[in-house]
Amino acid sequence: MTERRLGVGLIGAHTWAEKAHLPGYKAHERVAIADICDVMPERAQAMAAKFGARRVYSDHQALLADPEVQMVDVCTPTHTHLSLSRDAIAAGKHVLSEKPLATEAAPAFDAARAADDKGVRTKLGFTFRYSPAIRQVKQWITEGALGEIFHIHGFEQNSQFLDPDFPLRQVAPDAPRDRLIPSSIIGYGSHLVDLMRWLGGDFRSVASTMRNFVPERAIRGAVGRHRIPVEDGAVAIVEYDSGAQGLLQSSYIAIGNYPGVELRVYGSKGAAVARLIVERGIAETLHFATADAVEFRKIDLPADRLPPGTSLGTPWPELYYRNLVRFFVDEILEGRPQECTFFDGAKSQEIVDAIIKAHFERRWVDLAESRP
Ligand SMILES: NC(=O)c1ccc[n+]([C@@H]2O[C@H](COP(=O)([O-])OP(=O)(O)OC[C@H]3O[C@@H](n4cnc5c(N)ncnc54)[C@H](O)[C@@H]3O)[C@@H](O)[C@H]2O)c1
Repeated sequence: MTERRLGVGLIGAHTWAEKAHLPGYKAHERVAIADICDVMPERAQAMAAKFGARRVYSDHQALLADPEVQMVDVCTPTHTHLSLSRDAIAAGKHVLSEKPLATEAAPAFDAARAADDKGVRTKLGFTFRYSPAIRQVKQWITEGALGEIFHIHGFEQNSQFLDPDFPLRQVAPDAPRDRLIPSSIIGYGSHLVDLMRWLGGDFRSVASTMRNFVPERAIRGAVGRHRIPVEDGAVAIVEYDSGAQGLLQSSYIAIGNYPGVELRVYGSKGAAVARLIVERGIAETLHFATADAVEFRKIDLPADRLPPGTSLGTPWPELYYRNLVRFFVDEILEGRPQECTFFDGAKSQEIVDAIIKAHFERRWVDLAESRP
């Protein structure tokens, strides 16, 4: 008997697809990369040749019409994620979308409902949920090894945009410049919010401060440097529904290596620090301490925590995405419970919106304010 394979169609065949998504499908023994689509056909052809797709298209509707495609991967620029994902849902396909699904929470919640109504599964590309270290921390919390959770600290800090001549792609050149333009809190903060919510549960209330540190910078799609008030550093404090406290920082300009994510969880019995920062070629480290042995000790994760064929020396985009793809494909093929869905993306968006509001209104914002 031949094993069931999942037919995948990928839309958006360029940088991140090549580094992260397509290696994940190529490595999964139960995936057939059926179709690749890009509005620039030569990109679709190049990726099809490299990763072995059967057909290429420049119109995503042609990909959606292919009955061999059961799951669609949206790896295009941000402003296209929602409409492409909605088309894929309408065509009855399971969908993985890069984050964010939308720049507002309401349409993201609508898309999550549309998927449920259609009976298809969704996953949002929250890369760091698929870090082996972060998944171990989640398991410790679930099993009670950390006890009652008191504090959760999340950081995403790297120095990619400290150089004002490194073109920022996260802000459109024509964005209104009359007030601070939230940016690191959207691009980086959404990941952190998702991790902090996954580990600690729903947020009750947030306060925050955001500011611009690099007053002139290059913006992708525009020539030269521009005086543009991009938010390149944000800090938020969080009250959880559980009573736990959270602290979050996103920064484009904090010196340090990629991906610059650090998660610390402190509970009544133990504490964990997951550091997703490439050091001497190693993607991440995990440390653990207990109330009776407070010196943090390094934890070596068992090999089966990592996707087959990888090590902590695998480049982080591939390491984490191979895991993400593995989880989604196996969830679909084996009917396992869903996680990291469009609903989670919408919840993260809702919290990011509240953090932005708290800064502009200089006050605590309750998440209940934005719920119907
Ligand atoms: N999760 C993460 O950690 C992470 C990291 C990096 C990038 N990303 C996200 O991944 C996405 C892709 O990033 P990238 O750097 O590869 O961008 P990119 O601009 O290099 O590539 C996007 C590709 O999509 C194609 N495209 C655009 N509209 C299309 C459409 N309607 N139909 C078909 N093809 C279309 C473009 O021609 C291009 O080839 C972005 O949303 C980015 O924010 C996520």
